[in-house]
Amino acid sequence: MTLIFAHRGSAGTHPENTFAAYLEAERVGVDGIELDVQLTKDNQIVVIHDSTVNRTTNGIGKVKDYTLEEIKQLDNGSWFAPEFDGEKVPTLTEVLEWLQTNKLLLNIELKNETNIVPYLEELVIKEIEKHNLVERVIISSFNHYSIRKINKLNSKIECAILFLEKLYEPWNYATTVRAKGLHSYNPKTSDAMIREAQERGYPVRVFTVNKEERMQQLIAQGCSAIFTDYPERALQVREVVRG
Ligand code: G3P
Ligand code: MG
Repeated sequence: MTLIFAHRGSAGTHPENTFAAYLEAERVGVDGIELDVQLTKDNQIVVIHDSTVNRTTNGIGKVKDYTLEEIKQLDNGSWFAPEFDGEKVPTLTEVLEWLQTNKLLLNIELKNETNIVPYLEELVIKEIEKHNLVERVIISSFNHYSIRKINKLNSKIECAILFLEKLYEPWNYATTVRAKGLHSYNPKTSDAMIREAQERGYPVRVFTVNKEERMQQLIAQGCSAIFTDYPERALQVREVVRG
C-alpha cells in the first residue's frame, strides 16, 4: 500500500511546519509526516524549511542567527491566514514528544545542502534515540555526505537520498551512501524506475504530489509512498483506487 506523508504537515491547507499542520495531518489519518530541520544559533533543532525566517514568519534574518528563545517569539502562522496567528516555530523535541501520543511515521529532512551545519546529524540522532523512535523515523537529505554520516552514527535508522534529477540506477548509487530509500522528484520519476527499484527492495517515495491524477497513477502502481501538501485528497484517492 502506498503510504501518504503530509509534506511539511498539511502545507496546502495549513501553515507549513507548524503544529496546526501536523494536527490536521493526524486528523485526516495520514501514515506519516515530513518536516525540515535546522539548528539555531544556540544549537537547538528547529523545524523550518527556508534558511531564513522571512517567508514563513513575521521576523527577518537567518535561522542560524536566532537563539531558540528569539525564534520562539516569532509568529509562524499569520503569513498563511490570520486564524493561524500565534503558531510558533516547533522544535524537533516537541514533535518527537507529540509522536509518543500516536503511531505516525516521521521523515526528518536535514536542511544542510547549502550550509554546513556542524553536529546536526549527531544532535538529531540523539533526540530520536532518546524518544525511542528509531523504528518510526526516516532521515533524508539532499546532502548525501550527511546521509552516510547518519548511517555511521546509527545504522538502524533508515536513510534516504533526496534527488532532483533522473539518476541512472539510483539504487546502486544509494548503496554507496548506505541509503535504502529513494526520495525522488515527481517530474523526473518514471514508472520503470519505481518498479525496478522496488523489485530490488529500495522503497521509492515521490515528492511533492498534489494533483489527483498523479496520485492515482502512483498509488495504482504500488509506489511505496508519496509526499503531498494535500493529504486528505491523497487518502481519498487511495481509498478509491484500492476499492
Ligand atoms: O522531503 C521531500 C521534500 O520536502 C523535499 O523538498 O524543498 O520541500 O524540502 P523540500
Ligand atoms: Mg522537505
